[in-house]
Amino acid sequence: MRSAARVIYLDWNATTPPHPEVLAAMQAAAEVAWANPASVHGPGRRARAFIEQAREAVARLVGLDARDVTLTSGGTEANNLALSHAFGDEAAAAGAAGATSAGAGAVGAPPWGRLQGALVVSRIEHPSVTRAAEGLARRGVEVAWVDPEPSGRVAPEALAAALDRAAAVAPVRLVSLQAVNHETGVIQPVAEAAAIAHARGARLHVDAVQAVGRLPPEAWAGADLVSVAAHKIRGPKGIGALAVRPGVRLRPVLLGGAQERGLRPGTQDPLAAAGFAAAARRALDAPARYAALAPLRDRLEAALIEAGRAAGAAPLPNGEGARAPHITNLSWPGWRGDELCAALDLEGVAVSSGSACSAGTAEPSPVLTAMLGPERAASAVRFSIGEETTEADVIEAVRRVARVLARLRPIPAGS
Ligand SMILES: Cc1ncc(COP(=O)(O)O)c(C=O)c1O
Repeated sequence: MRSAARVIYLDWNATTPPHPEVLAAMQAAAEVAWANPASVHGPGRRARAFIEQAREAVARLVGLDARDVTLTSGGTEANNLALSHAFGDEAAAAGAAGATSAGAGAVGAPPWGRLQGALVVSRIEHPSVTRAAEGLARRGVEVAWVDPEPSGRVAPEALAAALDRAAAVAPVRLVSLQAVNHETGVIQPVAEAAAIAHARGARLHVDAVQAVGRLPPEAWAGADLVSVAAHKIRGPKGIGALAVRPGVRLRPVLLGGAQERGLRPGTQDPLAAAGFAAAARRALDAPARYAALAPLRDRLEAALIEAGRAAGAAPLPNGEGARAPHITNLSWPGWRGDELCAALDLEGVAVSSGSACSAGTAEPSPVLTAMLGPERAASAVRFSIGEETTEADVIEAVRRVARVLARLRPIPAGS
């Protein structure tokens, strides 16, 4: 019976299955670390040790100091914290107990007044960056948007031009550029962006959520602030981090207790932290495992193109040039991406038609729309493989794709 067919998971960009070492670490923590990590007594200190282990493992993974790692609820919160750090009403900032040194005390006022300064951000960032930028714009920040090239890469020249344009209006405080695009896998020119931003006195935030544990640290070289999410590196959901260079003063987006130096108030979760620590340690050598996946991804891509051609129309790859080794994103002329996703789900192939698809909306991907227009976006499907994907998975997935394509014939062009 088809419904009983084994599910082939090709959506490793949406999230990764927790690794057995991660589950074991969380299970072990659950038995000893149920106390509140903020409590000063023995059980509290025991729970806090797991929080600090996560901080240290993340610091090692991204190459920054543990004192400058703030644990968050995930990539979204890390990105929001990063963007808002650079903007605040000056009166509130002057009154804040913050210093510009690293570690404890490097906390500014919350970004809740009328804001000043300029931000440069690409149009292909994750919504946790683009929506945060829109929010800052509504509150007075000058936001300069940078369009991608059709290849999916943000050109350093375009970034520099946007910086100069924004600087004519207000001092540019921050540039935000992701390391790897979540939909196409295209690797962005982060080192060039860092040089451009720093030469003009701005900081660079890198959303490295899709790069950490998949690419070596050069992928976020030069960044002043780096966002990470545990669930993309085989850790648990609901925990992530923002790591910053010494001297970067953050501002909380939530107010409450003194946890995470007041930057992220709320009782911390030692179990999630134990899982994050295990995942971050494993992720140190994961880039080599991911690099070895590139030939499998290439075979998957070629076989999918062939299956589309055999069914009436070859799909078009979205994203050119340097790409992360595990993603292929294809537009299927005559088919709709969300329909293909749904039909493939029935066949037991888990894929995605863009970040919005997984949120249950049929809105075409803003990333692909910015790169190649709305039609191309509406027919796109993203396949992302991972450490456990096998050759047999790929062969079987392509067979199932061919079955779906034969059933959902393409709409002839011009009809
Ligand atoms: C590039 C990128 N940034 C940020 C996020 C958000 O991370 P989280 O789901 O942990 O909030 C994602 C998640 O898909 C992502 O791909």
